[in-house]
Amino acid sequence: MKIGVFDSGYGGLTILKEIRNRIPQYDYIYLGDNARAPYGSRSFDIVYDFTLEAVKALFARGCQLVILACNTASAKALRSIQQIDLPGMDPTRRVLGVIRPTIEILPRLTKTGHIGLLATRGTVASHSYALEMEKIAPKMKITELACPMWVPLVECNEAQSDGADYFVKKYISQLMDMDPLIDTIVLGCTHYPILLPKILKYAPDEVHVLAQGARVAESLEDYLHRHPEIEGRISRGGTIEYLTTESTDKFNALASLFLDEPVKSTRITLST
Ligand code: DGL
Repeated sequence: MKIGVFDSGYGGLTILKEIRNRIPQYDYIYLGDNARAPYGSRSFDIVYDFTLEAVKALFARGCQLVILACNTASAKALRSIQQIDLPGMDPTRRVLGVIRPTIEILPRLTKTGHIGLLATRGTVASHSYALEMEKIAPKMKITELACPMWVPLVECNEAQSDGADYFVKKYISQLMDMDPLIDTIVLGCTHYPILLPKILKYAPDEVHVLAQGARVAESLEDYLHRHPEIEGRISRGGTIEYLTTESTDKFNALASLFLDEPVKSTRITLST
């Protein structure tokens, strides 16, 4: 069986890359729902329906474990899928998200206890980061800001263009104005690390910018260590298969740029 990595589009590739760097021995399937991306401004019900369809598709292709490498899906669909759908579908499979592992590392990174969260409208509206933080470090202050222009910039391959500077600077300045004591900015959307060079250009020097990939990879490795009954079912061929709901030509071209290696994808259709 395999490890499935799911995102609305290309963003999850930033997580996949780090996971494969850290634990390359397993077999993986990546699924990008590019035809329906972005998810960030969609309602709870729609993100939940789309995410459940994706999880079912990955299970049908032999995934033992699916990582929702998408904050929006983790915020809006993870709990329901874990608690309501999974027991009826197959209680031996697992679905994990990216928010909890990210939250767990924050108390070690911040000195001021003031965190900035940049994410999609959906993730910000869910307050999932603040709610999770409340459980483990209630004294921390999280200031949340939605950056609705960032995902379209990435999905349209404009992340390195001069035009992108305007929107990167705009949201970083807005966040720092909301709370000048912020010393750690969390990129709470898996698309955002693709804008990292520009984000670092506009973030104050003393502020730490956290991209989630390495942390999620570390947490997954630890999870597999602690769950040999899951780990033992995952095959170790070191392969990767790419699935997209959009045109494969488009996906192959852009995904290859993000991953610095050739990508050959297969198109699939998701439906309930
Ligand atoms: N990359 C996803 C996230 O982490 C979703 C972006 C989107 O589809 O709006 O939130």
